[in-house]
Amino acid sequence: MTTTDDPWHQVDEGWGRQAATFASLSEPGNCREYVALHHELAVDTGERLLDVACGAGLALELAALRGAVCAGIDASPRLLAVAKDRSPGADLRVGDMCAMPWDDGSFDVVTSFRGIWGTTPDAVTEVFRVLAPGGRVGITVWGHLKASLGAWALSPFRLASEPKVANQAAMVSLGRPGAGEELLTRCGFADVRRVDIPFAWEFPDPETYARALASSGPAYEAIQAVGEQAFLAHATDVARERLRDGLPLRAEIKVVGYLARKPAPSRLPEPPAEPSRAGFVAEPASTPEVERLYADDMDDNGYVMNTTRMFAHQPAVLNGLFDLQAQAHQAASLSIRQRGVLIAAMASTLGDSYCSLAWGERLARRATPALAAGLIGGDDSGWTEDEQALAAWARKVVRDPNGTTAEHLAPLRHVGFGDAKIVAITAFVTLRMAWSTMNDALGVHPDPELGASAPPALLDAVSYGRTIEGATRFSR
Ligand SMILES: C[S@@+](CC[C@H](N)C(=O)[O-])C[C@H]1O[C@@H](n2cnc3c(N)ncnc32)[C@H](O)[C@@H]1O
Repeated sequence: MTTTDDPWHQVDEGWGRQAATFASLSEPGNCREYVALHHELAVDTGERLLDVACGAGLALELAALRGAVCAGIDASPRLLAVAKDRSPGADLRVGDMCAMPWDDGSFDVVTSFRGIWGTTPDAVTEVFRVLAPGGRVGITVWGHLKASLGAWALSPFRLASEPKVANQAAMVSLGRPGAGEELLTRCGFADVRRVDIPFAWEFPDPETYARALASSGPAYEAIQAVGEQAFLAHATDVARERLRDGLPLRAEIKVVGYLARKPAPSRLPEPPAEPSRAGFVAEPASTPEVERLYADDMDDNGYVMNTTRMFAHQPAVLNGLFDLQAQAHQAASLSIRQRGVLIAAMASTLGDSYCSLAWGERLARRATPALAAGLIGGDDSGWTEDEQALAAWARKVVRDPNGTTAEHLAPLRHVGFGDAKIVAITAFVTLRMAWSTMNDALGVHPDPELGASAPPALLDAVSYGRTIEGATRFSR
């Protein structure tokens, strides 16, 4: 709720009193700034664009030429009347930029040309609100005035009373290095950057310059202090010293542009806040299928394996992979010990610690810890001939499937595996590789329970891959 006591209602007194002169003598001098900022923002056809403190609306006319669907707000009804005359189809409102009459997320682009200052930070909060997620903002302010060749053109404003001059300095402070970046970041904007914006006023003669300047809001503050005639005389004198033969009066002034973006919510689901026992993914939500998989693990092992926690995100894939593996090892009539040899040889060659430990421990129970550790280290002595043939083949499949030859199958054939079983054995190895690769790629560590039950020789042999300690951090 605003009242006519709110300061923005006083703005028109200064800014609106010579609206027609401002629009035709002063505002066109800003055209380089408008074009440059629209270019930086890549304003495009169909985009909903709001210009804050739009004044007489020349910037809006130029944005419409780029195809933007334009809206504007300004505190001065008399300036806005000019804007409406120029852009009858635009959504133009008289109002306060610190309490804008548009819904959240109404615009794709918001601009403001020297309309938002260090003294009006609330306007930036409003800009953030009315921008759609992902929307862009571009704000210009005066830059380093003392370093500007054309600073003379603004000097008559200093005829204003001391408090008014102090307020003008506070407004301009937004152009200082870091000031705009800090304000925009504090208001929630991302990708904040500062660019130099070209700005040059040109006038045919000192009198025209003085008239143009006198039509602005800050000039009115000076006029209130010294009177209109004195202001015009002073400004004309200042400009006379800058006359150049055959060329217009020219005042190049440093203008800073701040560009930023309202962050868009990520389209990707949030990653887990911290790694879980399921690796880089969170544990899946409880469903009947997930609970069934967990119950099977409890029956088989007395605990839920980390790999199950990860794979339970896709129960159908997990069950399918299980079934395929079973079909493959049944087709080859592999014993559990033969399967263990194939898996341990495959996993150790691949560098996968999880399956090396899980199946190494089973092999240790069915043979000896030393034999299991030896096989994992690449020493197959002590294993039967068929087990040695299986281990050698598994390692070749992992290490260099393009480097195999028909001769490499001879040891398998020698121990009685025909073509159909060789295909089934190779399928079993590659299906198990898929499982190991899933664990490793998704950061699934071996279960701490495996570390507790594995014999020391085996733990020493598995010196690669993801560590058991990596999982103990997440134990529950
Ligand atoms: C330096 S002028 C810039 C005008 C315009 N952007 C241009 O480039 O010519 C500042 C503008 O801010 C407007 N203004 C000042 N306070 C305002 C407020 N609280 N809400 C909306 N507009 C305001 C003035 O009426 C004036 O048009």
